[in-house]
Amino acid sequence: MTTAATHNSSSTSTPAPSPDRDPLTPTRRDFLFVATGAMAAVGAAAAIWPFIDQMEPDASTLASGAPIDVDLSAVQPGQQILVRWRDRPIFINRRTPQALQSLQSPALLARLSDPTSSVHQQPDYADNWHRSVNPEFGVMVGICTHLGCIPTFEPLPTDMPSSEHWVGGYFCTCHGSKYDLAGRVFRGVPAPYNLPVPPYHFIGDAKIRIGENPPNSKFDFSTIRQI
Ligand code: FES
Repeated sequence: MTTAATHNSSSTSTPAPSPDRDPLTPTRRDFLFVATGAMAAVGAAAAIWPFIDQMEPDASTLASGAPIDVDLSAVQPGQQILVRWRDRPIFINRRTPQALQSLQSPALLARLSDPTSSVHQQPDYADNWHRSVNPEFGVMVGICTHLGCIPTFEPLPTDMPSSEHWVGGYFCTCHGSKYDLAGRVFRGVPAPYNLPVPPYHFIGDAKIRIGENPPNSKFDFSTIRQI
């Protein structure tokens, strides 16, 4: 079981940008700097969101970066679980019929930066309106594409009273980026890209294998535009 960690706010502050680079373009150093704090927050996030013991693979599997199997049968509509794959937090949310309807709403699409997933942030088999294999389950890397913090899960329209027309999604508390429940980033926020979708496929009605493509797919996760 992941251990909750104390979040040190000073570790996630943004370094001052040098004058000769775009402040929205993270350097490798920026990413590592923020990711250190972000990964510390994984434990805290796991304590808040449902985290099921059987979903945590053994230490050797995690260390090898091998595919992991995740049983989704206990995940209720509207819930999210967090698992680790290759040392990255992976969000798996089970979307309600209302949430699926909202993902197709023209009013929402008009507020997204890349509503059709034109940037290569997902495998071809998740290049669709729900950015997933099965519309009911969203699977994405939980690392903000701005500077690497871990967005919080805010699935209900009432979860973000200060955000006008919120329909449910993710909020990055570091610098205010927002994503919908398919991981598509909103316009006018610092994050440039949609959340990445890892390789995965269903190996049962409610079981997925993360880190492996469906048969006949050759998607290479390292080709993602920004992880
Ligand atoms: Fe800056 Fe998420 S890390 S908005």
